Amino acid sequence: LRRFPLRNVRGVPLMEPIAQNWDSISSFNPDPSDILISTYPKAGTTWTQEIVDLLLHKGDAEACKRAPTVVRIPFLEIVTPPPIPSGLELLSQMKPPRVIKTHLPIQLVPEGFWKNKCKVIYIARNAKDTLVSYFYFDQMNLTQPEPGPWDGYIHKFMKGELAWGSWYDHVKGYWEEREKKNILYLFYEDMKENTRREVERIMRYLDLSIPDDVITQIIKLTSFKVMKDNPMANYTFIPKSLFDHSRSPFMRKGEVGDWVNHFSPEQVKMFDEDYERQMKNSNIPFRTTI
Ligand code: A3P
Repeated sequence: LRRFPLRNVRGVPLMEPIAQNWDSISSFNPDPSDILISTYPKAGTTWTQEIVDLLLHKGDAEACKRAPTVVRIPFLEIVTPPPIPSGLELLSQMKPPRVIKTHLPIQLVPEGFWKNKCKVIYIARNAKDTLVSYFYFDQMNLTQPEPGPWDGYIHKFMKGELAWGSWYDHVKGYWEEREKKNILYLFYEDMKENTRREVERIMRYLDLSIPDDVITQIIKLTSFKVMKDNPMANYTFIPKSLFDHSRSPFMRKGEVGDWVNHFSPEQVKMFDEDYERQMKNSNIPFRTTI
C-alpha cells in the first residue's frame, strides 16, 4: 500500500484514484429520496452519519448494527484499496433512500443531487479544531499524503493544499448556497453545546417525527464515549494497513477548543491574520470555544 498523491480536479486537490474515476463520480445520479451528508474532513461527519441513520431507523440500534458506518453509508467519491468497496460500488448495491457521505466542495457535488432536489446536510467545524483533527487523521490514515511536521501542516491547510482542498472555500461555498439549495447547515460546536437541539433540527429537516424518549436514546448511542467503543462506528474494523489507530485513534478527543494545546501564540497570530483575509466578507458564525 502507498499513500496516494493528490491530483488536481477542477482546481481541487483530490486523491489520485478519485481523480482517475472522476467522470463516473461526477455523473452519479442519486434518487430524490437519497440524503447527502457533506463536510470538509474532520467536521463531525461520522457523528452526523450515526445520528441520521438512527433517526431514519427510529432509534433502533440493531438496525444500524448490520454493517459498519462506512459500509452502510457509502462515501460517494472514495476509491480505496480492497477490502473496502468503492463508494459507487456500494451505492449500486443499495436501494434508495440511501444516506451518502461526501467531502466534495459544493461546485464538485454531482449535478444530480441538485436536479433531484435531494436533502443535503452540511456540517462545519471551526478552522483551528478542524486543522488539529486533520493533522492527527493524516498520521493514521495511510492512504492520504504524509502530514509532515505541524508547522508546515498549518501552512498547507491555509493554502488549501490538503486533500479536498481549501477549508475556507469549502465552508463558504455551502454557506452561500444554503438557502437557494435548501441545505441544512450545521456546526460541530452547536452539536457539542446542545446535541438535542441539533438532532431535532435534523429530524425536522428530514420530515421525521420521533418521540422524545427515542431522541434521548439516539443522543446516548451517538455520544463520543459510546461511539468510541462501538466497532461499527469507530473504524477499528478497517485493516491496520489503511488506518493505524496506534498512531492516533479515529475517535480521538471529540472536543471544542483542543487547538489551544497545539498552536503557539505566534502561530495563532499568523493563522488569525490570514483567516481575516480569507474569510473577509463572510458572516459564518464560527466559534472556537463553547
Ligand atoms: P477529533 O480529532 O477532534 O477528536 P469526521 O467524522 O468528519 O472525520 O470527524 C472526526 C472528528 O469528529 C474527530 O475529532 C472525532 O473525535 C469527532 N467525533 C466523532 N464522533 C463524535 C461524537 N459522537 N461526539 C463528538 N465528536 C465526535
